[in-house]
Amino acid sequence: MAILLSLKDTDLVPWVEALNNELGSVDLCLYPKVEDNSIIDYAIVWKHPYGDLKNYPNLKAILSCGAGVDHIVDDPDYPRSVPIVRLYDEKLSQDMCLYTLHWVLHFHSDYYQYNNLQTQKNWNQKPFKLPEKCHIGVMGLGVIGKDIADTLISFDFKVSGWGATKKPDMELLTYYYGETQIHDFLSSIDILINVLPLTTTTSNLLSENTLRLLPKGSFIINIGRGGIVNEADLIMLLDEGHLMGAALDVFATEPLPKNNPLWSHPKVYITPHIAGQNNPQSAAMAIAKNIRRLENGEEPFPLYNPEKGY
Ligand code: GLV
Repeated sequence: MAILLSLKDTDLVPWVEALNNELGSVDLCLYPKVEDNSIIDYAIVWKHPYGDLKNYPNLKAILSCGAGVDHIVDDPDYPRSVPIVRLYDEKLSQDMCLYTLHWVLHFHSDYYQYNNLQTQKNWNQKPFKLPEKCHIGVMGLGVIGKDIADTLISFDFKVSGWGATKKPDMELLTYYYGETQIHDFLSSIDILINVLPLTTTTSNLLSENTLRLLPKGSFIINIGRGGIVNEADLIMLLDEGHLMGAALDVFATEPLPKNNPLWSHPKVYITPHIAGQNNPQSAAMAIAKNIRRLENGEEPFPLYNPEKGY
């Protein structure tokens, strides 16, 4: 079996070691050093050069090194007949849960106010707020969104979810779906967490009209994709005081351009797309499991569905 490893801006050494440990004697070809394109069975990719994936005539599957596959399907030349497998890695998901929890506490427990108070040398204890009084909305209840919702529920936060389509198995939270239920979903949320993938349905979904449905004084955390939140509208609503703060890990353009006003906005907290970074060991384990499933004729998980766009 031969596997192409095409990972942009990544130290390949730990990946090669982890994949060798997981898969044993496979032929790992590190892009661009592939002598014979016809031997490649699988491609493990992160931001591959557009056009390259069509050059492997016997490719059986493309495995994303990220939960999102927009870096693959945005390539106009990716081979449409080859299945794409997203990455569900428990460690990556746990890291996103921790990231989210950090900002939930930052906003819910008023920690964001203590920085200012410290500069004024002001010893001002804000009253304790019960987590169950804080209503958190998670948009995108795929495996990662579900892990985030479960984590917050375990700390007694009140959690509701919204997804583009109806979903079974949502017994622990109130679940809303589709365009018609977005109003009801957003209308009572204190902290909105976006974990949605970027699709034609979700692009620009959180713009002025939808953000205004949130109650005055609410917060937003974006770890899905930047293109889902309209940055200009977000700034406008923060300036008006309708929204109180935003923690953003993803942006319409990455790296975030130096002249983007989000950088210096007093109510915006920026991290450079670091929520859910890859850990080669656990990611290689998840990828190898899917390669074994594919070799045994089983369905890999999670398999990209082109109709849904994720
Ligand atoms: C990161 O953004 C990912 O898609 O996993």
